[in-house]
Formats: sequence, C-alpha cells, structure tokens
Amino acid sequence: MSPLIQSPAWQALARHSDMMKSVHLADLFAQNPERTAQFSRLVAGLHVDYSKQRVTVETLALLQQLASAQGVLTRRDAMFSGEEINTTEDRAVLHVALRNRRNRPVFVDGADVMPEINTVLQRMRRFTEAVHEGRWLGYTGERITDVVNIGIGGSDLGPRMMCDALASHALPGMKVHFVANIAPSEIANLLKTLDPARTLFVVASKTFTTQETLTNAFAARRWFLDHANDPATVAKHFVAVSTNHTAVAAFGINTDNMFGFWDWVGGRYSLWSAIGLPIALYIGMNGFERLLEGAHGMDEHFRLATPEENLPLIMGLIDVWNSNFLGAETLAILPYGTRLGRLPAYLQQASMESNGKSVDLEGNRVDYSTGAIVWGGAGTNGQHAFYQLLHQGTRLIPSDFIAAIRTHTPLGDQQAMLLSNMLAQTRALMLGRGLDAVVAEMRAAGMDEATIARVSPHRVFLGNQPSSTILFPQMTPEAVGALVALYEHRIFVAGAIWYIDSYDQWGVELGKQMAGELLPAIGKVPITGAFDPSTEALLSTIHQHWL
Ligand code: F6P
Repeated sequence: MSPLIQSPAWQALARHSDMMKSVHLADLFAQNPERTAQFSRLVAGLHVDYSKQRVTVETLALLQQLASAQGVLTRRDAMFSGEEINTTEDRAVLHVALRNRRNRPVFVDGADVMPEINTVLQRMRRFTEAVHEGRWLGYTGERITDVVNIGIGGSDLGPRMMCDALASHALPGMKVHFVANIAPSEIANLLKTLDPARTLFVVASKTFTTQETLTNAFAARRWFLDHANDPATVAKHFVAVSTNHTAVAAFGINTDNMFGFWDWVGGRYSLWSAIGLPIALYIGMNGFERLLEGAHGMDEHFRLATPEENLPLIMGLIDVWNSNFLGAETLAILPYGTRLGRLPAYLQQASMESNGKSVDLEGNRVDYSTGAIVWGGAGTNGQHAFYQLLHQGTRLIPSDFIAAIRTHTPLGDQQAMLLSNMLAQTRALMLGRGLDAVVAEMRAAGMDEATIARVSPHRVFLGNQPSSTILFPQMTPEAVGALVALYEHRIFVAGAIWYIDSYDQWGVELGKQMAGELLPAIGKVPITGAFDPSTEALLSTIHQHWL
C-alpha cells in the first residue's frame, strides 16, 4: 500500500467518507443555515459557491490536514520560486512568472527571468500595434485583417478558447482563425476563404517539431507563395512563436519575426506567453495584459491566502475528495453561454495531460485514482443532450457551472433565461425529486393511479449530485484570466496530493512514435508480421480504397 493511502490523513478521510456517502445535500443545507456563507468565496472577481459539494466543515478540515501532510503549500512555494518541480524533465514550472505583473523577481538557475519576459511582452506590443496601426502591411501594401494561428494542443486550445471568450473585445476589422488538425480539410477549407495579401500566419509550436503544425505551416506557405510568387514576401506574412530558434530558422521564418518563450512554460500552460500572440492581435495588447492581470490576481491569492481562505487549494482538495473518496470518475465543465464553449476542451488538456499519470514522483505505480476525466459542453445546449445521465444515471458526476452575469450582447430576456436555466440545473442536481413528490404532482395533474404506479419511478430524481457554481460580472479579460488560473492551480493542488509530476506528458510519445512507423505503410500492401494482425487488416482495408 502506498504511503499516501497509509497516511493517517488519508485514512481519516476514508472513514469520514463512509459516513458522508449516505448523507444527502438537501439535509446538509437543512442542518446548517451558514452553509452557503461558509462555502463560498469571492476571489479575483470570481464568486465561487461550492456549498453544493458533498462536503462539511469536518470534510474540509480533514482535507486540509491531507494537504498539510502532503506538503502542498511547500510545493506551491517551490513552484513560485522557480524550483525544478517538473522532475522528470528537470524543469521549473513558471507560467505564473509570465503574468507576474508586479515584477517580483523569479530566479531560474540564478537569473531573474522577469526582464526576459518583459522584453517579449514589449516585442509583442510593438508588433501587434504595428499591425493594428497599419505600419505592418502585407506584400501588396494592404492592411492585415486575418490572423491564422497554426498550432495544436497547448499551442492552439488556449488562444482559441480565449479568442472565443473575448470576441466582444475584438478590435474592429480583425479576424482570427485556428488550424490544428492534420486532417487536410481543416486548412484547405480555411485557405479558400482568405486573401493572402491580408493574412498573417502565426506558426505556434513550443518545440517546432510537431508533425501537424509543421505540415500545416508548409501547406500555408505553399498556398501563400502560389499567390505572392516571391519568397522575400514570406517575412511579412509568417511569424513564429517557439522556444526553438534553430528549427524556426530551418523552416524559413526569419528569427527577427520569432517570439520566444522558455522550457519552463508547459505547452498547456502557455497561453500567457507569446503563444497568446493571436489573442493580442485579436483584442489588442492592452486586452492581453488585462488577461495577465486577472490571472495574476488569482496567483497572488493562491500564493498568499491562508489555507482556509485559499480558493484553488479548497477546490483542488474537493476534486480529490470527489475522485478518491466519493468515487467520481469525471468532472463536467458546464459553461453557460457560447463564449466559453471551448473551455471544456481547454481544461481537458490542462487537467488530463497534467494529472493523467499512474506513477508517483519516485517512480512507483500508484494505488489510487489520479486525474479525473474532464469533459463537458455549453449550457443550455447540454440540457437537451447529455444532462439526462447527470440527473438520472447511475454515476456520481461532479460538475462546475460557470457564467458571466451580464452579456455584451443583450437581447430581450435571453440572458435571464440562460441564468435561470443554470441555477435550476444546480438546484435540480442537488435536491432531486423523491417518489412522494412525484406521485403528488402526478395526482394533482389528474393522472390515474395505474399510470402513476407505472411511470412514477421513472420520474424520480435522487439528486445529491455535487456541483460548484462560478459567477463573474461580465466576460472581461480579467475575469477569464482569473478563471483559468483558478483551474491551473486546482490541477496543481490535486497533483501535489497525488504526488505525481503534473508537468510532464510522456504519455503522448508512444502514439507519435508508432504513427511515424505506420506512415510509410499507409496505402501499401502491409508487410506481414510488421504490425499486429488487427493493424495489418486495417492497413489492407486502407490499401483497398487508397486512390
Ligand atoms: O503531443 C502533446 C503536446 O506535446 C502537448 O503537450 C503540446 O501542447 C502539443 O503537443 C503541441 O506541442 P508544440 O507546441 O511543441 O507543437
């Protein structure tokens, strides 16, 4: 048994959970009138209510003891001070330095990283302002109106999600597009809609070795040169964001047009770096810096607040509670409104690539669950699709409901309807509806007793599904920055409890290697014995239909 499972703090929680599994949320509210006040916080502009989670004062106290026993806050301090907490890659983890707006010195290998960060921010400002003010022009002398980010994973999901979220802040005349997938239709369909003379490509790749990104970037350059006919014009239309100068130069992008970042920025934590360039091009550098400010507010809270007040700590501990003690396997992210529709996909990478690990920091296989399966989708759409299972399925599914209170695009009662639906779902999931209430309702509707007996069990809701609700006044850069930083730190906290390296991603390597081995075999008659029988049969099927 692992030291974590054996620890007194874990064992105390296990005993406590035996009792808590049979407690209903409705009873917890009835027993404690202070519950909502005790279990909600206002931090960095976010109002977060976790009173509908299946926790009590005792649960949180026991979770805090676990955090203390696992040294979570010591590890937090190590992260903020630039220690190499990503031990399998020998790297510091310093996305917090990218938004360290007060310029507190942060040292990596004895050198303060803040001057370099500020230099890149200044370069981003000069470049984006030149584009916006018409001083950076395309090869025919026209203004840039369309930005195409070519990147995948962390070099795509963050900027894409943020540009959607902050579309109401977009500068007039600027459009932004994203190409990630190697599937040819993605880039081919987009290019058909663009004017090369007014298009700027941002090739975004931390490593600048990612197959999808480089292949799409070459395709974009071929398309561009088919129109411009002059290799010298590439410099006006292609910039790169990367840590790899050599590979950027080898691709043919002038490194004067490259925006750098550092190996201590994980791909899935990189939207705050120059990977955020499309955001800055879309909403302006001031808007991008407001995003950094919002995240910094959450960072300072996480760094300085007491454990009892510390929202990312509390929410990360609740994630552990739900996974390891109540048996939840997933976390549903349910943003209300379409602006944050890409948040579930973004958080899927942030959480699952970080905490999808089964070996602890000392290389031992763990004997407890780690990262939850993160999924979700925008409300109210989801209500008409997958919520049925949340309400009446057999699984415990914690969910996060997230909404901006005011909309930038008011239209009649629609925002009120959006919010009423969201609150209704959190209430319905919590309270449920018992058989007696269902029967009474059916009788009141005049139904006959035989129908009531037959149908009423199907209309029962057990409730007791835990949720948190996150509200903020409006979809501003500050609010979304704080929101994403909250999740980043939650992921950190859960990873620290599980004693895993949340900042490597070795699990992506095997598939990449095998794809390389399979590429030469696509469209060919398979060499018998080179692959497993299933794969060889699939290769044969592909071959039959190839060309
Ligand atoms: O394959 C996974 C991954 O390495 C992610 O961690 C990363 O965000 C993504 O690919 C893209 O990597 P890069 O920015 O180096 O192209």
